[in-house]
Amino acid sequence: MQNLGIAITGSGSAVPATFLDNQSLTQLVETTDEWISIRTGIRQRRLAKPSETITDLATAASRQAIAMAGINPHDVDLILLATSTPDDLFGSACKIQAQLGATKAVAFDLTAACSGFVFGLVTAAQYIRTGVYQNVLLIGADILSRWVDWQDRRTCVLFGDGAGAVVIQANEKDCLLGFELRSDGTQNNCLNLACTPEPTELTQGVKVGKGNFQPITMNGKEVYRFAVQKVPEVIDKALFRANLSVEQIDWLLLHQANQRILDAVRERLNIPEHKVISNLANYGNTSAASIPLALDESVRQGKIKPSDIIATSGFGAGLTWGAAIFQWGR
Ligand code: UT7
Repeated sequence: MQNLGIAITGSGSAVPATFLDNQSLTQLVETTDEWISIRTGIRQRRLAKPSETITDLATAASRQAIAMAGINPHDVDLILLATSTPDDLFGSACKIQAQLGATKAVAFDLTAACSGFVFGLVTAAQYIRTGVYQNVLLIGADILSRWVDWQDRRTCVLFGDGAGAVVIQANEKDCLLGFELRSDGTQNNCLNLACTPEPTELTQGVKVGKGNFQPITMNGKEVYRFAVQKVPEVIDKALFRANLSVEQIDWLLLHQANQRILDAVRERLNIPEHKVISNLANYGNTSAASIPLALDESVRQGKIKPSDIIATSGFGAGLTWGAAIFQWGR
């Protein structure tokens, strides 16, 4: 009898050692610690040194997750790296596979911006539920500091770098209780890290576009409005699929974008404050890393316990958004 359910059995995380607090940002742009704290809840962020890579952060987080799950790198069948900032546009998952020595694993990148972890969780579950794979390593990792315009106060105060990972295993009981994923490309222009090819003439009449990425641009107000409206909707939908009510949620674990978004979603869903997981004061918005990073911290602090029911939701560029309801552990 095959185990066609899924269980999340291990977590890990890694962040760069370098801190940048709000006060230090006032040396770069016209801002204040007060503005950033009140409008976002962020107090500091971690920033990768030029020599630090997504591969290194992701590998460190993965080793912890694999150890907690009590498996071996050779047991991993699939590595999914959710990231928008790979070390290499061809993907970074294979390098992580090599560094881990996960010789049997097939590895690829998955891009869904700040929704990447939730989209990855659901993707991993499909491979396990169909009986194809038994052990999946899902990583959310981003180094957005490489792609931020450090002169743009509307965006540079928000982001930080980090990685989080989970091991998802085949299990008799299915701990992914419900999910809902959505995309809306008509609002794509709200949040971009776009390639604007530079016209380059190769020979007479033959032009190509030389790769040239622009820093992050964002319509903050629109993204804020979108998140506060859409996130409660998908959580409600995922809860409906799980046949659960809001009261049965032990933890609300949202993408750590802005404390005001966390508060507004919590209020709309009528979830008590003590059930909300928030660590963005320390890390800022780490994009695909934010959910697994907060999950790992809460598990290691003993806040999240086996069988706790977690409602998670990612939202961001694409636009993409999604929610999953899962139980921690087997
Ligand atoms: O992963 C998903 C990624 N993105 C998000 O989740 C972002 C969602 N949006 C937000 O979190 C908020 O919209 C922001 C935090 C980005 C901005 O907060 P806001 O309350 O929407 O501020 P605002 O854009 O309406 O700006 C208010 C004022 C403006 O000045 P005026 O026009 O009123 O004179 C801005 O120019 O604040 C000014 N401002 C700043 N002032 C000091 C914008 N950024 C800063 C800053 N420091 N860093």
